[in-house]
Amino acid sequence: MKNNRSSGQVQGKGNLTVSKVLKSDDTLLRGLNEDLAAEWGTIIRYTFQSSKAYGLRGAELREILQQEISDELGHARFLTDVISDLGGEPTTRPREWDRVAELKPMLEQDLQMELQDVANYSAHAKMAAELGLTELKVKLENMAADETRHARDLSRILQGL
Ligand SMILES: [Fe+2]
Ligand SMILES: [Fe+2]
Repeated sequence: MKNNRSSGQVQGKGNLTVSKVLKSDDTLLRGLNEDLAAEWGTIIRYTFQSSKAYGLRGAELREILQQEISDELGHARFLTDVISDLGGEPTTRPREWDRVAELKPMLEQDLQMELQDVANYSAHAKMAAELGLTELKVKLENMAADETRHARDLSRILQGL
């Protein structure tokens, strides 16, 4: 099978190679690994939460969370590739999260975490732009847009609770 990693390849600015860029500042690489840990955490959290969603409202929530899991998995795969391409070691450890039994506080926690992800991706997109990593900047902005959509879906459910 052909190994297509084009989604994770990143071009540096001018004659600066990516490794030189990152040697001077590995803050971006550390940030991307924190983003990756957040994605693994969200994949596990949403999988767990959708298994706990019962009743009619639960069925709706389950459907929404399962759609979001596939987005988060795409984000995690992209970050894993990009961290490797930038010479880093992609984490496989999820960000910690609290198990919340009640529906409303559970969704409020999810919403806060999605909004945090939006802020992190936006900040890292800015850092990528400053390093001349245009493709990475655009991808991170698109991921911020995905998380914004997830946050909007969650807040719509919360408004009806
Ligand atoms: Fe994500
Ligand atoms: Fe998300």
